[in-house]
Amino acid sequence: MSICLIGFMGSGKTTIGQALSETLQMRWHDLDQYIEIQENQKISEIFKEKGEAYFRNLEQQYLSKLIREEGVLSTGGGVVISPANRKALKKAKSIYLAYPFETLYERIAGDESRPLATSYEALKKRFEERLDWYEAASGIKINCQNKRVDEIVQEIITCLDV
Ligand code: S3P
Repeated sequence: MSICLIGFMGSGKTTIGQALSETLQMRWHDLDQYIEIQENQKISEIFKEKGEAYFRNLEQQYLSKLIREEGVLSTGGGVVISPANRKALKKAKSIYLAYPFETLYERIAGDESRPLATSYEALKKRFEERLDWYEAASGIKINCQNKRVDEIVQEIITCLDV
């Protein structure tokens, strides 16, 4: 089973995932990048041309495949919307990278590669809707605010006991 990183957009799942996999000498996958390669299309284009429901379907399909592998898996912020995904994440070793909303908003505001990075209010609502799901889907929660990447990686390793 994979070590999965979950959290809202802008929480550093990709950066931390890559650094963690290097430290642990394990394979690393990024679910969004994997979907883009398999589908030969950018996430923003999939949303635009085929809609969010279509993307969520792909996300669920590829999560269930990649989560079975040994290694580190960075996910997309909305992976926890699906109850089936939450159940699968809970069974694997899932780590919630937690930040206050304001920090995340500063990082994602105006990012055109993120189709759901819209207004402050809409993002805040989405963030609040998902908080319980991130908690429910993870076994470990790391408060990342004001910590460096290497500090977060060390904290994860300590919590995982690997
Ligand atoms: C999404 C987050 C994105 C990507 C897609 C939808 C979301 O990933 O999967 O745009 O619903 O929060 P990041 O969390 O890496 O931005």
